[in-house]
Amino acid sequence: MTKAKRKRRRDFKKLRVLVLVHEDLIPPDSLTGHTDEEILNWKAEFDVISSLKEMDHDVRVLGVWDDLGKVRKEIDEWSPHIAFNLLEEFHGIAVYDQHVVSYLELLRQPYTGCNPRGLMLSHDKALCKQILSYHRILTPRFVVYPMRRKARPTKRLNYPLLVKSAVEEASLGISQASVVTNDEKLIDRVEFVQENLKSDALVEEYIDGRELYVSILGNERLKVFPIWELEFTKSDKVPLIATAKVKWDHAYQKKIGVVTHAASELGEGVESAIMKQCVRAYRALFLSGYARIDLRLDAQGRAYVLEANPNPNLSYGEDFAESGEAAGLPYDLLLHRILTLGRGYRAAWRE
Ligand SMILES: Nc1ncnc2c1ncn2[C@@H]1O[C@H](COP(=O)(O)OP(=O)(O)O)[C@@H](O)[C@H]1O
Ligand SMILES: [Mg+2]
Repeated sequence: MTKAKRKRRRDFKKLRVLVLVHEDLIPPDSLTGHTDEEILNWKAEFDVISSLKEMDHDVRVLGVWDDLGKVRKEIDEWSPHIAFNLLEEFHGIAVYDQHVVSYLELLRQPYTGCNPRGLMLSHDKALCKQILSYHRILTPRFVVYPMRRKARPTKRLNYPLLVKSAVEEASLGISQASVVTNDEKLIDRVEFVQENLKSDALVEEYIDGRELYVSILGNERLKVFPIWELEFTKSDKVPLIATAKVKWDHAYQKKIGVVTHAASELGEGVESAIMKQCVRAYRALFLSGYARIDLRLDAQGRAYVLEANPNPNLSYGEDFAESGEAAGLPYDLLLHRILTLGRGYRAAWRE
């Protein structure tokens, strides 16, 4: 442990922290003996929990699947200062994570990360885009193809188009085949999303350009981290998009040279315009705690918001933590800020 880290540890007030994780993602105490693939599954959980312990907090980890009773019992019996919310689903359903957060609010339990309203508005990508449009925040033009309704070609959008699920995260269902250039491929891919991901399909105009991520920390006063970029340094594959393979397959990442770093040479005034745009998106979607906004920047310098990710991946070395570090927040301090924001969030029961 560095001297600076040891000093910070003395400054942190010791808290009872109840970490809520998916039942199958309770990490072991140490990484030894585990393969890279295994570690990838629960790396964020491991990093957060081990760091909280290193920060000298009193940490309990609770695995959650479909039982809110367990959560309530822990809260009643132990009175945690804060619940550290690392849940991304409840009973296997991604959009139910917001209900767990609602439950925490009903119990008057402070928690880290986003509030239920922000989670609900961002997880529904179409609704999110409607809100962004209302606020004149640039986002790709789109059409929704609802489940169980026969898909027909659209005249409202111009090819190429990108077809994705309206609710899924982590590039689930996104591959090179998601970019379509004619009616036949469009209908095929829409049906693929509806059948395989069991959700409405969201079809957007494809934005050719650079892939940018903007991480933000805060409730009312916001701190914007340096703009981060995902680049493919060894691939001539076109189009370049962050498919599931790009995000999760280590060997493939190596092969096509996936790197992320602070974005440079964005052009005159573009950097500050993007940061402002992301702050406006954060506020428009009622986000709190911490979030990452995903964008595409076209050759004309127009930045399109693709989506907002409340409670983004907190793994050490991932985009959120990396750009936080570039903003002057080492990992322990980043977690400390997240805890403080959670404890300070003005939920309705506090007013
Ligand atoms: N309209 C679009 N134009 C270009 N690329 C897109 C578009 N929508 C999505 N993508 C690509 O697909 C990736 C995943 O899409 P995104 O909307 O961020 O969903 P997820 O929640 O799965 O991250 C993006 O990071 C980007 O590379
Ligand atoms: Mg994304």
